[in-house]
Amino acid sequence: MAVKTETASQILEAYVKKTPASAERHTRALKIFPNGTTHVARFLNPHPIYVDRALGSRKWDIDGNEYVDYVGGHGSLLLGHAHPAVVEAVCRQAPLGTHYGAQHELELEWAEMIQEMIPCAEKVRFVGSGTEATQMALRLARAYSGKSKFIRFGAHFHGWHDHVAFTAAPPEVNKPEGIAEAVVDGVIVLPPNDIENVRQVLADRDDVAAVILEPTGAGFGHVPTSGEFLRQLRDVTAEHGVILIFDEVVTGFRVSRGGAQAHYQVMPDLTSLAKVVAGGYPGAAVVGRADIIDLLAFVETEAGIAPPRIPHQGTFNGYPVGAAAGITTLKLLKTGDYIARANESAESIRNGIDDILRKHGAPWCAYGEFSGIHIFTNPLRQSVSREDIYAGKVPWNVLAKATPPGLGHKVRQAMIVGGADVTGWPGGVVSGVHSGQDVDITLSAFEQAVEMLTEDGEFD
Ligand SMILES: Cc1ncc(COP(=O)(O)O)c(C=O)c1O
Repeated sequence: MAVKTETASQILEAYVKKTPASAERHTRALKIFPNGTTHVARFLNPHPIYVDRALGSRKWDIDGNEYVDYVGGHGSLLLGHAHPAVVEAVCRQAPLGTHYGAQHELELEWAEMIQEMIPCAEKVRFVGSGTEATQMALRLARAYSGKSKFIRFGAHFHGWHDHVAFTAAPPEVNKPEGIAEAVVDGVIVLPPNDIENVRQVLADRDDVAAVILEPTGAGFGHVPTSGEFLRQLRDVTAEHGVILIFDEVVTGFRVSRGGAQAHYQVMPDLTSLAKVVAGGYPGAAVVGRADIIDLLAFVETEAGIAPPRIPHQGTFNGYPVGAAAGITTLKLLKTGDYIARANESAESIRNGIDDILRKHGAPWCAYGEFSGIHIFTNPLRQSVSREDIYAGKVPWNVLAKATPPGLGHKVRQAMIVGGADVTGWPGGVVSGVHSGQDVDITLSAFEQAVEMLTEDGEFD
């Protein structure tokens, strides 16, 4: 069913006028997909854009509109779209076979690079997606410790498997239907960044196998965290023999070549990797301490070979095309300055956004670290600066839920009208191939968006 549009605005009018072919495709899609979309983040009311090609920092929709892209393959495209070296590696591999149903040389090379770059990666297991990686990390932690529960933090995102797909923002419980109560009971969701709370829970109970978190904070720093919190968390988990899992699905190879763990110099026991690790192709891994990952290994006993304590399948684990893309990407990251360039462009955009907001007297602000951009749409309507956010002056659940979906759609559409595709939180991720010209286009689009949002009364 189509979602009805409640408010007419010049943003919506301009958006609809610019994207008629996408609207037509959406009519078809509504008969096939829920809401006509294939991912919750791609839902855009009254219709999303349909893209037919992308290169570098740009993408083009089927109406012929060009956009500077900040969705970045949901964060997987640190080298931008269709990087020539990655395309070449994939084209070289595809005719040689996409799946051998056997071990192959490329997976060795890929895993060795991961071992070399990610500090905790004593051993590696390839899986299919980030969701599978966090699921496996948690299963490994439970099996290793013999304990049943784990701690995660409000708003931290770890994919969509049952253990992590609920209670985005405690104390409000947000449990999608279809998740068993027994699963919910196995998970302790704590407020982020509150080390005393973690200390208390670990002092009070002896059934906690693991703590999992996004090491730069929920949603790649949408609710930021600090290196100090990570260090304290490492100390308290080590003290209680609890396994610390960094979910580096976004931050791995993006925050630094060795991920957030290398940047903050905090060593987790296990790490989930996806997105950049496979160079924009499907592919992921769980890596970490050898004694934990080895629970996936067959065991020699006196009675013969015993099955692994955790048998693990997965049709596309370590498949050759993903390996080829991943190896090429990691090599380029090792030798190139993509990470630094992405960070610099993101900082220019964050600063430019703040200048525009100040100039127009709009009470929002931009924040984010590394190559992430977040815009705080300030439901509090009191003065809030980037510094206030990093000083912890804005409650984490206000940050996490600041932007209602309708406003997110409006900002996104206003930016599309100006030639930039941002994410709906609103914000985006920047690649190492975004240029100064991209930054300029984006900031002009943002200024025009602010003018239209002002007319719509969004800053009143
Ligand atoms: C931090 C984090 N963990 C896990 C996932 C799930 O990864 P995937 O979409 O590959 O299943 C994501 C996806 O965005 C993520 O951002």
